[in-house]
Order: sequence, then structure tokens, then C-alpha cells
Amino acid sequence: MTRSLLHQLAAALGDGAVLTEPDDLASYVTDWTGAISGTTMAVVRPADTAGVAAAVRLCAESGVAVVPQGGNTGLAGGATPDAAYENVVLSLSRMRRVRDVDAVADTITVDAGVVLADLQDAAHAANRLFPLSLGSEGSCTVGGIVSTNAGGTSVLRYGMMRDLVLGLEVVLPDGRVWDGLRPLRKDNTGYDLKQLFIGAEGTLGVVTAAVLRLLPDVPRRATALLALPDVGCAVAMLPLLRTHTGGLLTAWELINREALGLVLTHLPGARDPFGTPHAWYGLVELAGGSEDVEGLLESALEAAVERELVVDAVVAGSRTQRAALWALREGISEAQRIGGASIKHDVTLPIAELAEFVAEIGDLLDEVLPGVRRVTYGHVGDGNLHYNLSAPPSGDAALRASAPDLTRRVYDAVAGRGGSISAEHGLGSLKREAAASYKSDVEIDLMRSVKQALDPRGLMNPGKVVP
Ligand code: MLT
Ligand code: ZN
Repeated sequence: MTRSLLHQLAAALGDGAVLTEPDDLASYVTDWTGAISGTTMAVVRPADTAGVAAAVRLCAESGVAVVPQGGNTGLAGGATPDAAYENVVLSLSRMRRVRDVDAVADTITVDAGVVLADLQDAAHAANRLFPLSLGSEGSCTVGGIVSTNAGGTSVLRYGMMRDLVLGLEVVLPDGRVWDGLRPLRKDNTGYDLKQLFIGAEGTLGVVTAAVLRLLPDVPRRATALLALPDVGCAVAMLPLLRTHTGGLLTAWELINREALGLVLTHLPGARDPFGTPHAWYGLVELAGGSEDVEGLLESALEAAVERELVVDAVVAGSRTQRAALWALREGISEAQRIGGASIKHDVTLPIAELAEFVAEIGDLLDEVLPGVRRVTYGHVGDGNLHYNLSAPPSGDAALRASAPDLTRRVYDAVAGRGGSISAEHGLGSLKREAAASYKSDVEIDLMRSVKQALDPRGLMNPGKVVP
């Protein structure tokens, strides 16, 4: 049966579009962190939507599962095939066409395999902005960021991916194509079906194209790295920054010393812009068109120093300095990966709870594993912390052995304060079971009903998302 499916796939898509050699499969069956891996019988790489539909239909006829995959930069295992299911990985990486830029409707229509950085460039070429921005933008793809409802560093101004999608084209689990590729801002014709597929991590169908919003370009940027006494000051900075910057605040990112230390240790060229270490740092950015962003940032910083919220500041004086400050923030994931075993906790809390959460959880984790290193960073404006852990001096094995206990303590504390155990990375395979403990029975029931309605045979990305 396997051999006949592979022949049919090759006949439908062309020989070169079906990979089966172990060496060719390797990079598709392990996630970016290297911590999650699975197996697959083949990777198929269709060139267009018709090819995706044909591949999904053939797999459905053979009862073989389909695992959609974009840039494979996800952090919850959503794109990694689960070895428990006979499956084919469906890579959208050949579908890289910008289909249309509409200056009147202010939209861009792109294939699912378009890389986020290329999408940003295409928007710039039309003097517009596609505002989603994240560390992996050089490799993550539209299908992936739609399917995970990705966030990143400018959500506090522009929202998450869900806020930027106007329409979708989706191949359904039986191979039919739903053409919802509409650029309409108003469309009250019953259920908003596209919302089901955004954040579904490929469990309800394969996103093959999207119509996205464009925004006015904001070429002027003012960026600074601030030294902060504590998380409470980072939270108090938020209304202050908003008040002083008139809607131009684009990023307000938190970094603790442990996180910066990893970057300084592991990433070549990284340099501490301050003379002495500080407990916490905040990276602030304003972006505007003709506005005096530098002046606004300066006045905000003066007010912050006066209120003793900030103890030191480095303002980027050039594009290069700005890039160097962002490299310190965006390099944290990579530095933590190089630095050895780690546990990721991508959580959101009500913003007012952030400081107390951080103050409380440290001791609770030390009870489980003394000296466990807290690599804390994230997006203050969204209440989103990456409360990641790295191994203590006792080593990686100790961290791995304590991981379930540590994670339970983090999630219990988050849930106890009304937060969520996944802010922007999704559930994937990593948090699927945990979701069962932190979502209500009614929510889980609804999720299962939706899955059953769209994918009754359970062939779309099995083992992910739905508890
Ligand atoms: C980030 O904001 O850098 C990523 O979402 C977090 C991570 O890699 O854990
Ligand atoms: Zn993040």
C-alpha cells in the first residue's frame, strides 16, 4: 500500500516532488530545537494548490495522515510528524509566489510557502508595511505563521497574525479546496471560517494561500536598550511609553540577565552595551512615518528616569547600532539552544500579574531543582513571557529529570493567575496533553467537535493540538 501511494504521489506531482531517502527526510522529521523528532514515509513538495489537493486526496484514499510543514521553525512540535501514525510530510516550501499586491485594497496575496522576510520585502517594495516581525522571519513561512497564529515583537501595536489575515485558501482533509481568498474587510455571512484554520496548526486542513492586510510604512525608528531594576518597572513603563509616544510604540521587550548572558557567551560578535550587568533590560522601539520618533523616545526616557523606572539607557544612534540591540534580543533562542538542555514555557499572564508571578515562581522552582537557571524574556506589552529554564550546575540530566515537575509548577502558577500556557507558540505535540488539564471540559469538547466535523478520520496532523 505504501509503495502504491508513493507511486501515485510521484505520478501526480512529478518524481522530484517526492522524497523518500533517509538523508533527504532528516531535516523534515526533527524540529528546530532538535528536541522533538518523529518519522515519515515521505516528504512531498507540491508546486501549487492543485498539487497540494492531489497529494491530500491520495493520502486520504490510502488512509495515510498528512503533516503540513512550512519553514519548520515552530517551537511546539506542530510541524513534526508523530511516529505513531503512518504519515506523509507535506512541505509547502516550493510555493513561494507573491500572487498580487493591491494598492487600492491595501492587501497582498501570497502562497503559503512565502518566507516572512520576503513578504516584508514585497510590502516595502510597494511602500507599504507587513508588520509581523519575529526572530525566525528569515525562514518561517506564511502557512506556518497563519497556522500557529504567530506573534513576535510588534504585536502590541499591530496584533497577532490573526489580526492581519483577511482571507485564506485551504485544502481540506478530503482534498477539496476551500477558496476563501477574499480581500473583504466586511463579510458578515455566517461563521467566519478562516478563523478556524488560523492557529489550528494544520489539524483541520492545509493553508495554501492568504490575503493579508498591508499598513502604512514606518521607516523612521527610534530604539533603545534600557536597564531596569525589576519586572514591576517594566510593567509600569508600559503606560508611560504609551502616553509619551502617541501610538508609535511598536516594541517593548523584556530580557533578564541570564538571557542576555547566554547571548553574550554563545553568539559571536554580541557585546554588552552597558559597563556593568543589570538584573533586567527592556528593549523599546518607536516607529513612525514623518513623526519625530527620536524626540518622543527621549522625552519618554526622561520621564522614566525621573520616576526611577530606568537606571541606564543606550539609545541606538545608527541602523547598525539598532541591529546590534535587536540581535541581543532575537539571539536568545539560538543562544539557549547552543547553551545546552532547556525547557521552553511560552506563557501569557494578565499584564498586572507579571511582576508577582516572576517573584513567586523562582522559589517554587528552586524547591524542585536548586539553582535551575531562569532564562526570562518576552513581550511585556502582550503579557507574554518566555519563562524558559536552563540547566543548573548539576547538569542537563538533572534538568531533564525534573522537567515535568518544573513545568507543572510554572503552568499551575500561570493558570492560578488567570493566564494561558501557550501565548504564541501553539500547542503542537508539546502541550497537547497539558492543554487538557488547563482548559475547561466545555472548551475541550468544542475543540473535539470541530476536529470531528472537519477531519472525521483524524488524518490531518494527528497527535497535535486537540487533547
Ligand atoms: C522569542 O520571542 O524569541 C521566541 O518566541 C521565544 C522562544 O524561542 O522561546
Ligand atoms: Zn516570542
